[in-house]
Parts: sequence; structure tokens; C-alpha cells
Amino acid sequence: MGKMTRRVFIATGSALAAATVGQFGRRANAQQSRGVVNLYSSRHYDTDDALYQSFAEATGFRVNLVEAEADQLIERIKSEGANSPADVLITVDAGRLWRAQEEGLLQPIRSSVLDSAIPGYLREPDGHWFGLTKRARVLFYSKERVNPADLSTYEDLTNSKWRGKILTRTSTHVYNQSLTGSILHAHGPRETEAWVRGLVANFARQPEGNDTAQIRAVAAGQGDIAIANTYYLARLVKSSEPADQDVVNKVGIFFPNQRDRGVHINISGAGVLRTAKNREGAIRFIEHLASPQAQEVFAKGNNEYPVLSGVALDSVVAGFGSFREDNLNAAIYGRNNAEALRIMDRGGWK
Ligand SMILES: [Fe+2]
Repeated sequence: MGKMTRRVFIATGSALAAATVGQFGRRANAQQSRGVVNLYSSRHYDTDDALYQSFAEATGFRVNLVEAEADQLIERIKSEGANSPADVLITVDAGRLWRAQEEGLLQPIRSSVLDSAIPGYLREPDGHWFGLTKRARVLFYSKERVNPADLSTYEDLTNSKWRGKILTRTSTHVYNQSLTGSILHAHGPRETEAWVRGLVANFARQPEGNDTAQIRAVAAGQGDIAIANTYYLARLVKSSEPADQDVVNKVGIFFPNQRDRGVHINISGAGVLRTAKNREGAIRFIEHLASPQAQEVFAKGNNEYPVLSGVALDSVVAGFGSFREDNLNAAIYGRNNAEALRIMDRGGWK
């Protein structure tokens, strides 16, 4: 938290990887550069770096990466104002992309490449931002104590049979705000507040920790059902720690709402800044991330799902099985974020 790092990616004619500004800053200004794409990103995976490098190699653009937490990047772009060097913002969660849009930081763009690669529900209708990976928010249950036949929907988590059994992170976290924003769309404010109250009444403990902590808590017997994103389980599956393998063996994955609207889907995504100096490069860059080759790498970098259909899944992720997704446009639960948070506050979700 609070850390801001920078890297530069330049076409080298060789497979040379990222350079730090200190080492290569002057050389990066050399003649072969077609211009600069300044990227502000809150994703921090080595595989993403490889894609920025391949974009630089393929196009001759130089990519300057500034990496920090999303809220920090948004604040920075606001304070830089018209002079902001940022061309592209990449962040996770439609709630944050919506916030950047609402602050007036993003411009609408039209790209037939992006429109055909990315399903409509995963991008902002006017082109302010585009989903590049999908993240599924699902249920993880104790194999020892829960019969998955007793699980059904997010709504059913308020059933009194789950009293003292539910684990999830705080309402301050955007993932839960987006989930609640999708419930708000499906059921309206009154029923959503009742859902929040019922869920809170069933909490196993005061919310604490990230999604991984909720899955671990199920295995440790602190509760029976966790609400969390699938890639947190994938990380545990890939861990070489015996304690993590123990967690994996004790916890099952369940895709809720398969008989109605489907699993709540969130995104990580990108938008072009309103003040972008290199609009064309910015669009080319986002198109690159939506290409079949990049989609496979970009999604696998964090065990997520590609937005482009036909792209191979990571083998662990594929092993979770296929499921019906809620096709609610990400912009709708993004827009619902503020009201969802107020309802969570009123309902006592700490
Ligand atoms: Fe996450």
C-alpha cells in the first residue's frame, strides 16, 4: 500500500525485458520510438509486464508504466489535471472504473476491434472503459460441514440455517460493493437492505481479512461458507505450502444462482484518459490486450477468465468447471456502487 513504482518498456529488436527509468531513461528517448503510451495500472503481475514489452516490440511505442493502488492513481490523475501524462488507466473492479469515469477522468472511445472482442456487458456502453479479464465472485464451502445440495443463491445466504456460518470481507471493499450493486439491480433497495441485514445476522465473525483469509477461515472451522473470488482459490491450489494444500482439500467451490441470473462477474479493465496526449497509442494498447495471444496471458497472470471467447483457460481455473454468468452490464453495478454502500452501512455490514 502507498507504494508507487515505474518501469519503461521499449522496442529493442531483441527480447530484452523491462528497464528501470534510471537505467534506460535516456536511451528510451532514442530514435526508434514511435511515441509514448503512459500507463497507470493497479494490476501488478509479471505476466502483464511481458505483454507491455511485446506491445512495445510489435508497435514501436514506448510504454511508461506507473504502478500503484487504484485510489492512489485516481487521486494522482486528478491532481495532475490537464498536465497529466497518463494515457491509459488499468484497474480492477468496475466500481473503480465507474468512479474514474464519474470524476470525469476518462474519455469515450470507439473501437470496432474492442467492440467485437469484448462482450457488451463487460464494457461501458459509451466506451469510457473496457473489461479485459473477468472475475467470478462465488461461494466456498466446508466439505466436512456443508452439503453443496443445500447451497443455491446469494439470496439464500440470509436463510436462518446459515446462522453464524457466513464469512466475507468488509463492506469497505469494492468487490462486496459491486456484488451488492448487482443485488440492488435485481431486487431494488428495500429487498437489498433486507438481504444485507440477513447476511450480517448470519456472519460467523466481524468481517476481517481479504478473500484468501475467508477461504482459510472455512478450512479452519471459523465458518462454513465464504464469499470470495475464484482466483483466490486458484492461488491456493498452486501454492507449494502444505498448509495451503490442506485448505484446498477441505474447501469446495459452488457457483450460485445457476437457475436464475448467474454468478456475479466483475472485471479488470482499462480506459483512455480524457487528457491523454497519445489517444491513438492508448487505443492500440488496449486493443493489444484484447488480442487472443494477450488475453490468454493477461487472464492467466491472475488466474482470471479472459473476456475474449475461445481463449484457453488456465488448467486450474478450467478445473473449477463452467457456469452461468450474470450478464448484467458492469456499468450498472458500477453506477449502483454509492447506493449499495449506503445500504450496506444501514444494514450493519461493517
Ligand atoms: Fe482481488
